Amino acid sequence: MANKDIVDLASANYMDNYSQFPISIRSGKGVTVTDEDGKEYLDFVAGIAVNALGYGDEEEKEALLSVIGSGVLHASNLYYNSHAVHAAAMLNRAAGSDEVFFCNSGAEANEAALKMARKHGSAKGKTEIISFSHSFHGRTYGAITVTGQEKYHKGFAPMLPGVVYASFNDLDSVKAVISERTAGIIVEPLQGEGGIIPADKGFLQGLRKLADEYDALLIFDEVQCGMGRTGKPFCFQNYGIAPDIMTLAKALGGGLPMGAAVAFGKAKGIFSPGDHAATFGGNAASAALAEVVLSRLPELSGNAAAMGAYLGEKLRDIVSRYPSLCIEERGMGLMRGIDLRIPPRDVVAKCMEKGLLVCSAGYTVLRFIPPLIVTEADIDKAAAIVDEALSELA
Ligand SMILES: Cc1ncc(COP(=O)(O)O)c(C=O)c1O
Repeated sequence: MANKDIVDLASANYMDNYSQFPISIRSGKGVTVTDEDGKEYLDFVAGIAVNALGYGDEEEKEALLSVIGSGVLHASNLYYNSHAVHAAAMLNRAAGSDEVFFCNSGAEANEAALKMARKHGSAKGKTEIISFSHSFHGRTYGAITVTGQEKYHKGFAPMLPGVVYASFNDLDSVKAVISERTAGIIVEPLQGEGGIIPADKGFLQGLRKLADEYDALLIFDEVQCGMGRTGKPFCFQNYGIAPDIMTLAKALGGGLPMGAAVAFGKAKGIFSPGDHAATFGGNAASAALAEVVLSRLPELSGNAAAMGAYLGEKLRDIVSRYPSLCIEERGMGLMRGIDLRIPPRDVVAKCMEKGLLVCSAGYTVLRFIPPLIVTEADIDKAAAIVDEALSELA
């Protein structure tokens, strides 16, 4: 089938909840994907920060084939499976954390974290959660409620009670809403969907202090910025400030659905049997891929640090040459963006025509989140395409 046939079939059968580009991805190798018409693209989207190992990774293939060969893709959490248990141990070792709950997505991981914060606070009547402007935490009711962007709430009222909002990178705004009722604070150390906005170190240090002072749990949502993307295995390690709970998803399952809520120190032991569950959480297939990604985390984060610095330089150079279109470059590691004066979708469409996949973040940011195996040559090629696209739009 050609791209067009697939798009037509989708319009006849899908709900209209996505704004999709009219191509269907058929295959991939390394940092390149091919659509159903045979056109190749250099992929700086990576399934929205999912495909850390790029496409066609041999170790992932072997791991998945071995699970398929066992005949058991899923057996439920009534029993253990060695892949999930090993993945949890590897995760705790890499993060310095104590306990892991596996689920299937970022939103689910955040739901688990919010429930943990409320359960932790319940004996003392603490129920409130503080979240931030420009944040994004997912699409379930708990997750959209703590997402501090009106556009995600519109048409879906009422949101969950007990959530208060503060301004990102503004500690005074947190001091104005925190109280003895506060059970948790949820924050992305590097905001993704809100526009690639890094937290200031002083802001995270302040949140850590306030959370301790008020006995609230500090939740770092690393669904997008975790798993090596910012140049360290986890984004919080760039700041030297540990959360009480970290949430992960996206790259964790190597392309299969997998999320995790990870507990540190005082967040250990909050859940008791029956408190929380996910039928598919930690299923053998996703967990086997998580083992592969976690075993390669040092090498992936090292490459993200080196290639991220290189990508940052290239993007800052582009920004300096198109001041009428670009405001600034920002980000960490291989999670970067250019804040634009024009709608990012125009640039995304032009780049796609020229064989580069990039995406937007928020209303104004062009986002670069390539596989963590990306090379200098890939970055040179991508930068040349963005340059050409901008020169045609200037
Ligand atoms: C920071 C962050 N949290 C949560 C989510 C939601 O993840 P999912 O779509 O897997 O539910 C996302 C998705 O983009 C995200 O970027």
